Amino acid sequence: MESIIASASSQIDDTRHENMPRRGPPGVFVIFGGGGDLTHRLLVPAIYNLAGAGLLDNDFSIIVVDWADISADQLRQGFHDSLENFVTSRGTEAVTLHGDVWEHLASRIDYVRGSFEDGATYDTLAKKTANRNCIFYLAVAARFFGTIVDHLGQSGLARETGGVFRRVIIEKPFGSDLASAVALNARLLRNLDERQIYRIDHYLGKETVQNILALRFSNGFFEPLWNRDNIDHVQITAAETVGVEQRAKFYEGTGAVRDMVPNHVMQLLAMTAMEAPISFDADAVRDEKTKVLKAIHTLQRHDVVRGQYTAGRIKGQPVAGYREEPGVDPHSGTETYAAMKLQIDNWRWAGVPFYVRTGKRLAARKTEIAIHFKSAPYALFRDTPVDKLTPNIMMLHIQPTEGVTMQFSAKIPGPTVHLGGVRMKFDYSEWFHEGPSTGYETLIYDCMIGDATLFQRADNIEAGWRVVQPALEWGQDPATLNFYPAGSEGPKAADDLLARDHRHWLKIGS
Ligand code: BG6
Repeated sequence: MESIIASASSQIDDTRHENMPRRGPPGVFVIFGGGGDLTHRLLVPAIYNLAGAGLLDNDFSIIVVDWADISADQLRQGFHDSLENFVTSRGTEAVTLHGDVWEHLASRIDYVRGSFEDGATYDTLAKKTANRNCIFYLAVAARFFGTIVDHLGQSGLARETGGVFRRVIIEKPFGSDLASAVALNARLLRNLDERQIYRIDHYLGKETVQNILALRFSNGFFEPLWNRDNIDHVQITAAETVGVEQRAKFYEGTGAVRDMVPNHVMQLLAMTAMEAPISFDADAVRDEKTKVLKAIHTLQRHDVVRGQYTAGRIKGQPVAGYREEPGVDPHSGTETYAAMKLQIDNWRWAGVPFYVRTGKRLAARKTEIAIHFKSAPYALFRDTPVDKLTPNIMMLHIQPTEGVTMQFSAKIPGPTVHLGGVRMKFDYSEWFHEGPSTGYETLIYDCMIGDATLFQRADNIEAGWRVVQPALEWGQDPATLNFYPAGSEGPKAADDLLARDHRHWLKIGS
């Protein structure tokens, strides 16, 4: 996790200095599914940003594999057009496409037209990549993961001979439940060694997610408080305002639990709750993440809430309910919202609930982790006008605002003791003057240099699925669905989940 270590050490002298990482190694970046949305919107812009930052070797090239009947020139033109629309910059300067960077990159993009299921495609690839380092990026529908990796194995493309590396990056969804994830892992491992597999969870590409570890482990004052003695509970929220968009076909068979919880939400939870690793070495970090996920109690049915949005308003505009969305079954039982109470069975967290929630069409787009500390004893204030103390909350804002807020009590100036709740805020972009990137730059770069810290290991993925597996089974029962209007805070049943414990959710909307 080069990026974390680099930024942590740069803070000693001047937090605002960029710490330049080294150039990646020479090699070929092979994108399966190069015609798709992911490649246009995220991969090519991220590679462009890496090129612009001088992090690509001169001998770096891209081969796109797809079955579209287009020429390499048409493909390049398509990438150029999407880049103009989507490219983001890591700096604060205006985002414009730098012609020279693009020209240099474009001259290194090649196209192989072929089916992912045809051995001939891989023979062509083998000729074009002989004796070169390769990263194979599977930007394809999940049903092709196994097929492509089998072919990479059979064609010899996965073999690391003559000092070259061969690595495979796999997108989510990684399986659709525990059994399918275990089966997919087994299939991959028949063709590849675990250290060649880079399973992406794009949440780990977010600076603010990486910052959770930096914050916890590079500062002296958080860790001593980070436990059951001082923390009352933790709330993790991944709320979206978008609905199902054009993805009904995928989403109908997936739902909010599968789509967000075993992967993104579990990553946030693991980063927040894991023990300190013995180093930032990939396996040391992933060992601790897996350990904490394995320590989560088996879910109880009354600790899970499933919801589905009905018609409502988002930013003042009327929007349809989920069942009215194009391509959705009018009687669909798919959940677009999920909330869970999770308990971690270890010395640090026993008795501290982690409440997690995620959903579409909620009041605001907001991903955040709120650490609610135990209250100070009230006794000191009993003879004062103070009737209650402001809860001490540390909020880690993942997106769209990126930063950290501390909420605590302070005396309101004046002759009598009156307390007010105040907030102290660290704003990531204000301090570092850096706009967000696509999030894929770090992930692609880390794969190039062979650092798998920000990727999921097989046991990590399976531990995430194990947590949600009972909820997937109850999800078959339509009676477990609770409705909420689009633009709201979610279903009432989710409020009841916390009210039962005399707690309440922080508001999503402002
Ligand atoms: C994806 C899910 O993995 O994450 C989407 O499939 C979801 O349904 C998205 O919208 C959220 O990602 P982000 O980065 O916008 O929070």
